[in-house]
Amino acid sequence: MIMGGSGEKPQLIINGKRTDGRVPDELRPIKLEVGTLKNAEGSAYLEWGNNKVLAAVYGPKEAQPKHIADPNRAIIKCRYQMAPFSSLEEHSRSGPNRRAIEISKVTKEVFENVILLDNFPGSEIDIFIEVLQSDGGTRAAGITAAAAAVASSGIPMKDIPYAVSAGKAGDLILLDLNKIEDNYSDADMPVAIAPRNNEVLLLQMDGSMSKEQFDSALQMIKKAGETITKIQRDALEARYR
Ligand code: CDP
Repeated sequence: MIMGGSGEKPQLIINGKRTDGRVPDELRPIKLEVGTLKNAEGSAYLEWGNNKVLAAVYGPKEAQPKHIADPNRAIIKCRYQMAPFSSLEEHSRSGPNRRAIEISKVTKEVFENVILLDNFPGSEIDIFIEVLQSDGGTRAAGITAAAAAVASSGIPMKDIPYAVSAGKAGDLILLDLNKIEDNYSDADMPVAIAPRNNEVLLLQMDGSMSKEQFDSALQMIKKAGETITKIQRDALEARYR
């Protein structure tokens, strides 16, 4: 363990700046590449601050095993996984842990709400998210990367979703928490949104916020969404120009 345990809570804001020098409503630097993997139908590689995430998409193909197929629409399988070398924490257990199962499930639900499933009855679409390096906010990074990967696969979606978190330290609302902030903040709220109509596709919350704090966190997230959406579109355009 790098931190925690000792009970000493680090100061998250010093002179108005965060542990990594950002101001409260500042995103970490984001770099996105689409089409990274030759053998996947869609793929994307995302660096978001110190997070490094690879997303790969396969399908639509015949759902296997057959009994899981839905004759009316495609089903989505999603696997989020942290590589054993992705953090300083213990990753000795084999197979997905409870956290990975939860993140896979909420990510699957995000894509069930944007992919036009009715177009592909009886089939499955597989989304794999591999976290190569983690520093807080990997579920948001994974969804943002997977969205670009799905878009690059040509699977029709009603929108390209993005995700980012906001939280609070004391009364101060912070955008895009890094790992130290994630660990020691008073609230942490990852949100995924379909930008076209601002539909919320995922909203989780650790800790608590007042109604006003929640509103300003969501406001900050939507503002950041303009930047993230542009990064996704630019990466897709760069690939297919
Ligand atoms: O990554 P995200 O913020 O979506 O998920 P989290 O469960 O709130 O975890 C926060 C951070 O803790 C992750 O991004 C990782 O950097 C770290 N973590 C880890 O290293 N190993 C774990 N088993 C769980 C979390």
